[in-house]
Amino acid sequence: MGEMLVTGGAGFIGSNFVRMALAHTDDRIVVVDKLTYAGNRANLAGLEQGLEHGREQGPKQGRVEFVRGDIADAELMDRLVASADTVVHFAAESHNDNSLRDPGAFVHTNVVGTYALLEAVRAHGARLHHISTDEVFGDLPLGTDERFTESTPYNPSSPYSATKAGSDHLVRAWVRSFGINATISNCSNNYGPYQHVEKFIPRQITNILTGRPAKLYGSGAQVRDWIHVDDHNSAVLAILEHGTPGETYNIGADQAAVSNKEVVELICELTGGTYEHVADRPGHDLRYAMDASKLRRELGWRPRYTDLREGLAQTVAWYREHVRWWEGVKDGVEKQYAQSGQ
Ligand code: NAD
Ligand code: TYD
Repeated sequence: MGEMLVTGGAGFIGSNFVRMALAHTDDRIVVVDKLTYAGNRANLAGLEQGLEHGREQGPKQGRVEFVRGDIADAELMDRLVASADTVVHFAAESHNDNSLRDPGAFVHTNVVGTYALLEAVRAHGARLHHISTDEVFGDLPLGTDERFTESTPYNPSSPYSATKAGSDHLVRAWVRSFGINATISNCSNNYGPYQHVEKFIPRQITNILTGRPAKLYGSGAQVRDWIHVDDHNSAVLAILEHGTPGETYNIGADQAAVSNKEVVELICELTGGTYEHVADRPGHDLRYAMDASKLRRELGWRPRYTDLREGLAQTVAWYREHVRWWEGVKDGVEKQYAQSGQ
């Protein structure tokens, strides 16, 4: 039995990953998370033994241990990575709209935090998997079927995507210059349970469930390549198990044919809601589309959720059944959006 350190494991994708990894590996899992507004201990309910003030204070029981901390804390990262065989790095500031309001937190966590983690990995020789996004490649024109491949040049648009691009470059430099054992994955937009209500799909579902209209930025012609979070995480497990050190893998489920307007219409159909157009996002990327053929060909990975309507229906059901998980933060999120006319 090995030890896996999961950064950002109290967030959306990380907490779903912890659940899946418990079912698919024998590893003991240590979650390190700062619990920013986006992190939620309730996402790991029933799984973890919590240690607020450091790991020495309690006996090791169970398979998930929670440590509250900042990935930019070099001393803490050194201590946690020292006993890990594998590090899976999800922790990030993850929302584009926030990065337009407060880019500093994105530079701190995504760039400086990844640097601190890389130095610990270099010192202790753990295997690292770095989680990144398709947004590092910039955007594609609407109305084409061009897709991003692993060799598409980086061209990020927002402080979020620029800091994620920076973190990817750091990981590659540490592989080449210092010989660390790392892989990278760039995934398209995720949806599914436990996603913060600031993000597009859960925002619209919870708007409708609270009697508000869904809110579409600009014309809604933009296209995202939606993937269910479990499909993202099954790809990460496949890369951990069979990926080649030093390699990058694109992750996507071939769903890049649906505009934001069509997604909102589908959500309205599933919930009986309505939508309105609101102010567009400055610098709004037009279209993302992933070519994930390398992952399919080399690792035999396949997505399970190939029908967006079915995945959305399951997600709507989850938000209906977990009102207590999101109702406490909903009004605050909407108040913040209202300040930018969204
Ligand atoms: P999220 O915002 O839901 O979760 C991020 C987690 O990181 C939170 O629990 C937060 O508390 C924690 N965190 C933030 N700063 C930290 C710090 N300095 N130290 C320790 N923990 C910190 O984000 P998510 O959607 O789950 O995204 C996870 C990863 O996946 C990110 O690296 C993101 O770039 C990447 N990604 C996300 C998507 C998507 O559609 N959501 C798509 C592709 C890639
Ligand atoms: P988002 O979930 O913020 O992800 P990303 O910026 O990483 O793509 O947004 C997805 C798309 O939905 C994006 O084109 C912006 C748009 N959007 C809306 O139309 N309305 C909203 O309320 C939000 C949050 C996003």
